[in-house]
Amino acid sequence: MGKIHVLDKVTIDKIAAGEVVERPLSVVKELMENSVDAGASSITVEIKDGGISYIRITDNGSGIAKDDLENAFLRHSTSKIRSATDLDTITSLGFRGEALSSICAVSQMEVITKTPAEMMGNRVVVEGSEILKIEQTGAPDGTTMIVKNLFYNTPARRKFLKTAQTEGAYIASLMERMSLSHPEIAMRFIVNGQTRLQTAGNGNLEDTLYRVFGREVLSDCMPFHAEEEDVAVDGYIAKPALSRGNRNFEHFYINGRYIKSNLLSKAVEEAYKTFVMQHKFPFVVLKIAMPPSQVDVNVHPTKMEVRFADEPALYDLLVRTIRHQLSHQDLIARSPMVDVKEEKKLREEETKKTVKPEPFESKKLEMLKHFVRETSPYEPKFQRPVQPVYQPKPRQSEPAKKESTDDKAVQQTLFSEDYHFLKPESVKEHRIIGQVFETYWLVEFHDSLYIIDQHAAHERVLFERTMKELNRKEMSSQTIAPPLMISLHEHERLLLETYRQQFETLGYVFEDFGGNEVLIHQVPYNMFGLKDKELFLGLLDELDEIGANETPQIVLNKIAMMSCKAAVKGNQHLSEKEARHLIDELLTLENPYHCPHGRPTIIEMKKTEMERRFHR
Ligand SMILES: Nc1ncnc2c1ncn2[C@@H]1O[C@H](COP(=O)(O)OP(=O)(O)OP(=O)(O)O)[C@@H](O)[C@H]1O
Ligand SMILES: [Mg+2]
Repeated sequence: MGKIHVLDKVTIDKIAAGEVVERPLSVVKELMENSVDAGASSITVEIKDGGISYIRITDNGSGIAKDDLENAFLRHSTSKIRSATDLDTITSLGFRGEALSSICAVSQMEVITKTPAEMMGNRVVVEGSEILKIEQTGAPDGTTMIVKNLFYNTPARRKFLKTAQTEGAYIASLMERMSLSHPEIAMRFIVNGQTRLQTAGNGNLEDTLYRVFGREVLSDCMPFHAEEEDVAVDGYIAKPALSRGNRNFEHFYINGRYIKSNLLSKAVEEAYKTFVMQHKFPFVVLKIAMPPSQVDVNVHPTKMEVRFADEPALYDLLVRTIRHQLSHQDLIARSPMVDVKEEKKLREEETKKTVKPEPFESKKLEMLKHFVRETSPYEPKFQRPVQPVYQPKPRQSEPAKKESTDDKAVQQTLFSEDYHFLKPESVKEHRIIGQVFETYWLVEFHDSLYIIDQHAAHERVLFERTMKELNRKEMSSQTIAPPLMISLHEHERLLLETYRQQFETLGYVFEDFGGNEVLIHQVPYNMFGLKDKELFLGLLDELDEIGANETPQIVLNKIAMMSCKAAVKGNQHLSEKEARHLIDELLTLENPYHCPHGRPTIIEMKKTEMERRFHR
């Protein structure tokens, strides 16, 4: 008796209904998820023409038995759940029993599959939901699905597709996410005959991160682990310097499933709030493991949205633990000065060194071509028992099963944090070399060169000092003599009027001089640079960006932040003694690594990096 069966009506009615095949991306996602569910340790995805004319997914998983073949293409047929109650404890990526039926309805499909128990494999040809042929064929264990000419019979839907390049780019980013979600599966992505991405499948997330995003990104990522009750979160969070202009680099996985979640995005952004610039989004790869009963994946047909049983607890756990890690880590942005060409070559070389994900693949393709009717001599190299997707408290940081020594060396240098530039005891070892471009201070320490942006650092120092004084209500002022007379435009006068109270809290003292003229008698202590007319007007202009609904406290913070920026601008020159003092003061700060606007204050360039650049 087959394993795949059609679900009963009660269960069908409980499953979120809707179309899942929107574009080539959806086909690849559904088929890859089937391969993961089939326990594959190796998956190859090949596309041509952005996946519109050709998609091939080959895995070495469990295969589909002959008895199950016809059922597999029926609507609501699945081997993954039996009844509605199973929906509460889903451990597989698929469960709706709809993907294959939806895909075969709008394409020309060919499937070659073999289970380990069978002597021979089977080949099925399906077109527009109709099974045209089922025949025996020699094939290795596993499944190959080929989907040709998507939407060939529904031209209206085909019209909505974008260019092959754009559709291909969507699939490329899916491949990145899938690789990160399952580092234990060797994945390979071939576009128009060329391998674009290849992962080792050694179970090591660090290694996968490196292969997907490269050295520069990895060098600014920190391993992350948090655990509370039966929820575990593992992965990497990046230093704020790596922030991006959109949310595409917030990667969330729940029990091995890639998801999009407003809740998780909000939590992460809240944790990074004071560390990144406004309108910038952090780079994170977070894998959450929790009992399947606590997360509902049956929310939307694409299974990309989930509902958590205890949203506040998860939100709180993430905000608290990420913020804690950010506040207690060396957040200096590493500056590997990556030569893009060189980096690409290096990665390609590493990719070549990778164990080929499918040593059997070429043989398999050859066989598919000729439909050789004999048993396959193939002995699978990878044997992975079919695992449930949720495993309580997995540790991503587990040592890699098979890791090349080269890879190890790379990771060790990237993550060694034995010394700390900003530890008070390190100060005596700083060797200040001097200033360049009237802006950057160069400091040698251990085997690195640190570059400090004087303005960003100064701004941070002023800002933290000001905020501390404000909190303690200890703001003091400094008199400008003679007072500064400023003529304001009507708009500027209104702005000053609106925010006058916050200005005064900070230590400004104004006097209306009649008409649109204002005298500034005092500015906040330490912000002597503000005695410049232009700077004060610039500051007023920036106030325009403050939204009408902001709380008085937020307005105060913003004015303080802008005042610091303006004050620093007016104070260009620093002697070496002052620079030393500035570094000393940075040491005492809560967040010395970024100016209040999120720009880095310090970057690091390693000696090894320089040597590499000089080909030493
Ligand atoms: N690559 C594969 N290897 C082994 N079995 C497969 C593979 N792809 C599909 N199947 C079998 O075919 C069945 C139908 O697949 P289909 O994707 O339509 O449904 P599903 O995965 O059960 O649910 P969903 O619609 O949520 O994806 C699966 O339940 C599984 O038994
Ligand atoms: Mg499926």
